[in-house]
Amino acid sequence: VLERRPTRTWGATHDQRFTVAYEYPVVFTRDAFDPENPVVVEAIRGRAPSPKRHRLAVFADEGVLAAMPHLEHVLHRYENAHRSSLEIVGGIVPVPGGEATKNDPQQVLRIIQALAARSIDRHSYAVAIGGGAVLDAVGFAAAIFHRGVRHVRLPSTVLAQADSGIGVKNAVNHMGCKNLLGTFAPPAAVINDGAFIDVLPPRAKRSGMAEAVKVALIRDASLFWWIERNARALAAFDPNGLDILIERSALLHMRQIAAGGDPFETGSSRPLDFGHWSAHKLEMLTRHALEHGEAVAIGVALDSRLSALMGHLAPGEDERICRLLETLGFDLRHDALRSRDDGGRLAVLRGLREFQEHLGGELTVTLLAAIGQGIDVHALDERLIARSIEWLFDRRRARRKSDAA
Ligand SMILES: NC(=O)c1ccc[n+]([C@@H]2O[C@H](COP(=O)([O-])OP(=O)(O)OC[C@H]3O[C@@H](n4cnc5c(N)ncnc54)[C@H](O)[C@@H]3O)[C@@H](O)[C@H]2O)c1
Ligand SMILES: [Zn+2]
Repeated sequence: VLERRPTRTWGATHDQRFTVAYEYPVVFTRDAFDPENPVVVEAIRGRAPSPKRHRLAVFADEGVLAAMPHLEHVLHRYENAHRSSLEIVGGIVPVPGGEATKNDPQQVLRIIQALAARSIDRHSYAVAIGGGAVLDAVGFAAAIFHRGVRHVRLPSTVLAQADSGIGVKNAVNHMGCKNLLGTFAPPAAVINDGAFIDVLPPRAKRSGMAEAVKVALIRDASLFWWIERNARALAAFDPNGLDILIERSALLHMRQIAAGGDPFETGSSRPLDFGHWSAHKLEMLTRHALEHGEAVAIGVALDSRLSALMGHLAPGEDERICRLLETLGFDLRHDALRSRDDGGRLAVLRGLREFQEHLGGELTVTLLAAIGQGIDVHALDERLIARSIEWLFDRRRARRKSDAA
């Protein structure tokens, strides 16, 4: 016989609560797959070494494979040197580099098929070597395969080492919308290997520097000044300069994720996405003729001007930011900024709506209160955006005239 309990009137609520601590190493190294270099095997063994031999499915960006024709051999040499700890199951899986991989739904399915063919389980690892796009696609597949298998990233571009590869997000594009399908899935480890940067084409080296300028602008004035002082060396891709830039930028991104209070972006704010509402749209409008970092440089310039027009940023600082971006080699005007939709509206403005829809909630865009200090605003005046765009074109003309004089 059931004990009698009071009749429920409005229902019963039992609060469920638990916390999961995330911890993963971000290692800066060179020649990660030199047999003498222990960082990869240590990352795979994790913090609690066991005699277990860990199974790895390895995915590599085709761009990296082309730039490093011996990579596959080097990986197998590493595997042989560390046979007791790790095993690369099946061959290295090449993944087309760049946005094509994120745009084509078949690519994620291919990655999932490769994980299945290698019987990867939640105790094995999906290892991805590549640019931000390949890391995003492999990271997404790894996060949904068996509800999430361990994932180790070896970012191979400046952008991925300084920003995207060290974070907790992944995504692919869908229905013409950037990063529509994705998850928050912290990696098991991140290994930043300077040797990948050495073979990176100049355009991609430059592109990644935009994210470092971005994070310096919202979080760390001293890094901005350092970039300014070293802009010419960085523009010439001085390897030591790039190492410093990448590590400082990565640390700022890591601190934001760990200490910013909202690692999985449940609020309305995306503080690391300064300059990104227009950048994402420009990438789509140009069908990725603009690389992500190139679009971010334009977005940062646009929002810096907007910050000044709205009275947040001191006059002249916007020009200073644009000059730095140009010294680094970025072109800050692109016709896509002026393109209009069927209704005659600036097409880039649609990016603002998409930016808000991505998170939901109140529109929150990060602008600048000063160099090194971001500020959240909740309304943008379209006329001021249009004026900022025109300023980007006009200031160049003004400079050309003064250069000629
Ligand atoms: N998940 C996140 O938090 C996050 C954050 C920022 C950006 N992203 C994403 O990152 C992507 C951009 O990444 P990216 O800038 O690294 O570029 P990318 O991944 O598009 O790669 C650019 C090109 O460089 C090639 N490549 C990569 N490494 C190479 C190397 N070492 N040598 C020679 N070629 C190489 C690739 O094959 C590709 O052709 C975008 O899709 C963006 O949305 C994600
Ligand atoms: Zn970015």
